Amino acid sequence: MRLPNYDEAKNREKVEVKYLDVDNNINPVYINKKYFLRTYGCQMNVHDSEQIRFYLEKLGMTATDTLEQADVVVLNTCAIRENAHDKVIGYLGRCKHLKKKKPNLIIAVMGCMVGQVDVVEELRAKHDYVDIIVGTNNIYDLPKLLIEKKEKQNIEVYSNSDIVPENIIYERDSKISAWVNIMYGCDKFCTYCIVPFTRGRERSRKIECILKECKNLVDNGYQEITLLGQNVNAYGNDLNLGYDFADLLEQVAQLGIPRLRFVTSHPWNFTERMIDVIAKYKNIMPYIHLPIQSGSTRILKKMNRRYTKEEYQNLFDQMKKKIPNVAITTDIIVGFPGETEEDFLETLEIVNYCKYDGAYTFIYSERKGTASSFMKDDVSLEEKESRLKRLNEAVNKYSKESNLKLINKIVPVLVVGPSMKDKDKVYGYTDTMKLVNVEGGENLIGKIVDVKITDAKSFSLDGIFVN
Ligand code: SAH
Ligand code: SF4
Ligand code: F3S
Repeated sequence: MRLPNYDEAKNREKVEVKYLDVDNNINPVYINKKYFLRTYGCQMNVHDSEQIRFYLEKLGMTATDTLEQADVVVLNTCAIRENAHDKVIGYLGRCKHLKKKKPNLIIAVMGCMVGQVDVVEELRAKHDYVDIIVGTNNIYDLPKLLIEKKEKQNIEVYSNSDIVPENIIYERDSKISAWVNIMYGCDKFCTYCIVPFTRGRERSRKIECILKECKNLVDNGYQEITLLGQNVNAYGNDLNLGYDFADLLEQVAQLGIPRLRFVTSHPWNFTERMIDVIAKYKNIMPYIHLPIQSGSTRILKKMNRRYTKEEYQNLFDQMKKKIPNVAITTDIIVGFPGETEEDFLETLEIVNYCKYDGAYTFIYSERKGTASSFMKDDVSLEEKESRLKRLNEAVNKYSKESNLKLINKIVPVLVVGPSMKDKDKVYGYTDTMKLVNVEGGENLIGKIVDVKITDAKSFSLDGIFVN
C-alpha cells in the first residue's frame, strides 16, 4: 500500500528520471468478464483511459456500456474543481448499490482524484467497498492489482514518481486522430491548481521513443497527431540535452503527418523559435490554446503564473503576426481570492483585446492543499457568478464573430465521424480547430476535405462538402 503524500509532492527535487520498459505480457485471468470504464476530466485522462482499456482487455474482459452488467468498474477521475469531485462521489453511490447485489463486483478508482490525500482518506473511511485505488503515475500497476485481488482496499498512489514508462502499448479509440504523450506531470505550481500534486513532477519522455511512436502512426495512416502534456512547451527542460519543444515539433512535423497539434502550452515557456517552427510547417495546425487565467498582473502574480499582462499580450501579438490565420483560445478563472472588480475589468479588457476564437471559463474552486487554499476566498458567490456571466457574454460574442468570418469561405476539414443529430451529415474540425457539421456521406470519414461554410453559431459551423 502506498498513499498520496503532499509534502513529498511539494518538496520534490529535480532528479534524473528512470525509464521503465513496461511489461505488456498480461495473464488473461478475467476471461468472459465484462468491464465498465467511465472517464472524467481532460484529454490527458481520456488518453490514459486508452491505456486502461488496453489492460482490461488484455486481462480477457470485454466492454459494457451498462454499469449493471459489469464485473469490474473503473472510474478514471478528475480533481480540477469541486464539481468534478462531486460527480464521481455521486457515481460511486450507484456502484455501492450495485455491489450490494453483486458482491463479487470489483471497483477501481483511478485518475487525479486519488492523488489527493483527503480523497484517499475519505475513500478509506467511508467507501470501503472500493477495492483498488491507483494513481496517475503508475497506471501500469492496474493489471497486477486486478490479478492480486486483495481482500482489503489495495492502494498504490505515487505522489513523487521519477518514472517515465516507455513502450506502453494500447489500442487507440480512433484510427484517424491520435494523442501522443510527450511528458508527464507539471512543476508550475500555479497556486490554485491541484495537477502538480495529482500528476507529479514534470518529466519528459525519450525523444527517440516519441518519434518512433509518431512514425508508426504515420505508417498506419493516421491523419492527425496531438502532442499531449500539461505544459508541452516545457518539453526537454529536464533532459538537459539542449533539445526543446521547438526541436521536437519540427522533427515530428518532418515525419509527414498531415495534421500536427499540441496541447497545452504555457505562455511562460513559449519561445520565438517555437512560433517560427509553427509558422514554417504547413502541417502544424494554426491553432494555439494559450491559457491566460486573468488579465490582472496583480492576480497573475498571486496565481504564480510567471508572466504579466503585457508579456502575455506581447506573445499573443507575435503569434498573430507570424502565424498566418492562427486561431487562439484560452482558459480564464474568475473570483480568485482577492480579485477585485478592477482586476476583473482588466480580464474583460484583455478579452476585448485578444478577441479569442474560444475560451473555457471557470469560477475559482478551492482545492485542499494548494497554495491558494490558504488565501482568503473573499469574493462572494454572487459576485463570482456575475463576473462569469459578464465574461461569458464577451467570450461568446468573439467566438461567434470569428465563426461568422468563415461564412462562404472554403476551409479544410478533417472529418472524424458521423453526426449524432443528422444521419445525412458528418462532423470534423477545421485546421483552426473549429467544429463543423458537414453535409456529406460517411465515405468522407478519415479524410481532409474542402468544405464551404454555410452557417455559423457560437460553438460550431455548418458546411457543404465541395471537393
Ligand atoms: N495545464 C493546463 C491546464 C490544466 S487545467 C494549463 O496550464 O493550461 C485546465 C484549466 O482549469 C486551467 O487552465 C484553469 O483555467 C482551470 N483550473 C485549474 N484549477 C482550477 C481551480 N482550482 N478552480 C477553477 N479553475 C481551475
Ligand atoms: Fe495547473 Fe498551472 Fe500546471 Fe497548468 S501549468 S497544470 S494550471 S499548475
Ligand atoms: Fe485533467 Fe482533471 Fe487531472 S483536468 S490533469 S483529469 S485534475
